[in-house]
Amino acid sequence: MFQADLLAGKRILVTGGGTGLGLSMGRRFRELGAELVICGRRTEVLEEAARELGGAETHGCDIRDAGAVEAMLDAIWEGGPLDGLVNNAAGNFIARTETLSPRAVDAVLGIVLHGTAYVTLGCGRRWLEAGRKATVMSIVTTYAWTGSAYVVPSAMAKAGVLAMTRSLAVEWGGRGVRLNAIAPGPFPTPGAWERLVPKPEMADMIEKRNPLARAGEHIELANLASYLMSDFSGYMNGEVVTIDGGEWLKGAGEFNFIGDMMSDEDWEAMRKGGKG
Ligand code: HXC
Ligand code: NAP
Repeated sequence: MFQADLLAGKRILVTGGGTGLGLSMGRRFRELGAELVICGRRTEVLEEAARELGGAETHGCDIRDAGAVEAMLDAIWEGGPLDGLVNNAAGNFIARTETLSPRAVDAVLGIVLHGTAYVTLGCGRRWLEAGRKATVMSIVTTYAWTGSAYVVPSAMAKAGVLAMTRSLAVEWGGRGVRLNAIAPGPFPTPGAWERLVPKPEMADMIEKRNPLARAGEHIELANLASYLMSDFSGYMNGEVVTIDGGEWLKGAGEFNFIGDMMSDEDWEAMRKGGKG
């Protein structure tokens, strides 16, 4: 759907780019001409991904460690400044919230909220000092604004990342740094599904409980991400784009659920003033 050189000349860091959605976005960025940099904690996973992608700069880095993030960004900048950052790395699991230990809360907030802030501020500082144009895109979720039971630290952290996006869009937009976000619905990945699908038979429900009755395809997300990382989205700043087949809206509307419970006869009876 895009020109082959859409992202040519752009050096883009995807955090958590060795697996899942980060890997799928990186693959598409490479196809569209970008120079790709990926980071994560497991260097062997990153190296395997770089081989599969046919080339990517890799950095083993735990983004919870602000010093390690600074060292990584210095090393990246030695090879040339970044033009884009995708905040994709995350940690999550389902649990009854009252059972969470402080370490469990910190494990998720540390990656999603603190780690994302360290990487974004480190890149932003470098871009602003150099007067360089750049763009940031963060992967959040729709429960950043609806909230969700059983993933409370993740919901708190993603809400924070969305607030960071909207705040910095104003603070940095006039100096050439745009920030946007994507809120995906269900896009099955091993990393998410092994932690978030409690029983195998619930996977189908999680994937199809949206008006389109299917999970998202990685290429659909990767194309949206490519647009947001490209200059064609140059007037978008501080926006969050939902790509969930209408999932969260289906859950939100007062009467949306009745469509699944009403037969043709029920509707006909309602039209005639009966009770069905
Ligand atoms: C309760 C848990 C737990 C669980 C870990 N903990 N898993 N508590 N239920 N299922 C607790 C541990 O007991 C420990 O506390 C603390 O959390 C830290 O655990 P560690 O294993 O030491 O943490 P660490 O090795 O740092 O791993 C971080 C992690 C892990 C978040 C726990 O899952 C991870 O590495 N995740 C990265 C990838 C990932 O999560 N991908 C999915 C993203 S999907 P104590 O007190 O016992 O020491 C996503 C999708 C959103 O975000 C929307 C979907 C539609
Ligand atoms: P995933 O494959 O588990 O991706 C998470 C990535 O983050 C991994 O590559 C992981 O690598 C990296 N990571 C975790 N902790 C890190 C740390 N401390 N430092 C550096 N990297 C770290 O899961 P995914 O499904 O692709 O999720 C990707 C993004 O999409 C996340 O932001 C998630 O919240 C979001 N999302 C996913 C879905 C979905 O349906 N899949 C829906 C909505 C939002 P290491 O373990 O090697 O560090």
